[in-house]
Amino acid sequence: MSVTSIMNQKGGVGKTTTCINLAAQAALGAKTLIIDADKQSSLSQNFEQYKPKSSILELFRGKQFEVVNVRKNLDLLPCTIDFAGIDLEIQGEYSREFILSKALAKLKGDYEYIFIDCPPDISLVTVNALTASDYVIIPIKAARFSMDGISLMLDFVRKIKSALNPDISILGLLLTHFDERLRISKNIEKEIKEKGWDVALFKTRIRNNTAIENSQFEKKTIFEFDKKSYGTIDYMNLGKEVQRKIKKDQKS
Ligand SMILES: Nc1ncnc2c1ncn2[C@@H]1O[C@H](COP(=O)(O)OP(=O)(O)OP(=O)(O)O)[C@@H](O)[C@H]1O
Ligand SMILES: [Mg+2]
Repeated sequence: MSVTSIMNQKGGVGKTTTCINLAAQAALGAKTLIIDADKQSSLSQNFEQYKPKSSILELFRGKQFEVVNVRKNLDLLPCTIDFAGIDLEIQGEYSREFILSKALAKLKGDYEYIFIDCPPDISLVTVNALTASDYVIIPIKAARFSMDGISLMLDFVRKIKSALNPDISILGLLLTHFDERLRISKNIEKEIKEKGWDVALFKTRIRNNTAIENSQFEKKTIFEFDKKSYGTIDYMNLGKEVQRKIKKDQKS
């Protein structure tokens, strides 16, 4: 079993899209849970036809919470806008960094994969997500300026590892919105290599694909929306690559 956070402080890089579709792919073969840890709740809105009785807010308040089943093999712990004030609320608590990790300990036995959609910041909620995780995936939008902050993210994971969670590792950097015809996409790939980060780069790139936006508009996973789209092909390949990397890591 493994817990994976999809994290980047930068907004709009494809965290939520990656979280939904990676989880949907994992659920094709194994019990999977998605945790929406972003107060914007954009992931939860994809499943708003399900009426959950509780959310991640109850978890953080130490109350009873329930996940909601959204697809075969796929459960969700949703988020709502009320989660916005949680950082202040938990600020003064002892072991405030371990709230999610402790709560997940009870749930872990029920799932093979847990994916956490992080907010675009490095708040106490993000710290909780990483403290509860075995792996981090960092999506990088293959567009201008998106390299800013990658070293900051890597440093942040390093700090969490030394101070709070020695078990965490970076599963990979993921190029999203990739368009091989564009020089910018190629330049970003080149820059990652020059920085020596290519060892961590997923072989799968998520190509720019309007089917992805449209699938979210219809509240479907990419696999349900269009089986033949680039999005389906790329997220299917990414899912397999993620599972291979996790298996390899867990053996070593
Ligand atoms: N490969 C892609 N091709 C085309 N559009 C995409 C792709 N991936 C994501 N998008 C679109 O880009 C927008 C941002 O994606 P997403 O919400 O996944 O990013 P995010 O990192 O979670 O953003 P935030 O930081 O606000 O939470 C969405 O409208 C989404 O539909
Ligand atoms: Mg998001």
